[in-house]
Amino acid sequence: GAPVEANIAKLGDGEMTTVEWRGQPIWILRRTPDMIEGLERIYELLLDPASQRLQQPPYCQNATRSIKPDVFVAIGLCTHLGCVPTFRPELSPRDLGQPWPGGYYCPCHGSKFDLAGRVFKHVPAPSNLVIPKHKYLSDTRLLIG
Ligand code: FES
Repeated sequence: GAPVEANIAKLGDGEMTTVEWRGQPIWILRRTPDMIEGLERIYELLLDPASQRLQQPPYCQNATRSIKPDVFVAIGLCTHLGCVPTFRPELSPRDLGQPWPGGYYCPCHGSKFDLAGRVFKHVPAPSNLVIPKHKYLSDTRLLIG
């Protein structure tokens, strides 16, 4: 499929939008400073915090798994059996039985991912969410694919 362009000029802090690319949902999340800071606090709860098991674009092999710290781009399909996880930025820890800085929750079998798409330990999904190839055409225009 052809690359798809996304305009994120109106994407506010903490907001997520979805575009479609090759029949897959592509998430674009504008992380707040709190969200970015939260990514470090849960390191030991994650199965593969440095994304060493998963191929991803070289420009996303960093602590935030993104080109820009605040803008997170990922394929919105659970790496277990492909359900679409729900965006749950503000679930309380009680709901999930562990510290929860916000993230994605898969309703199919309960896999949990953080706001960089990194999978938590002890869930069915075997790996982090996949980051698609993408680049910036300008400050507000992304090209996915
Ligand atoms: Fe997401 Fe099974 S498909 S947990």
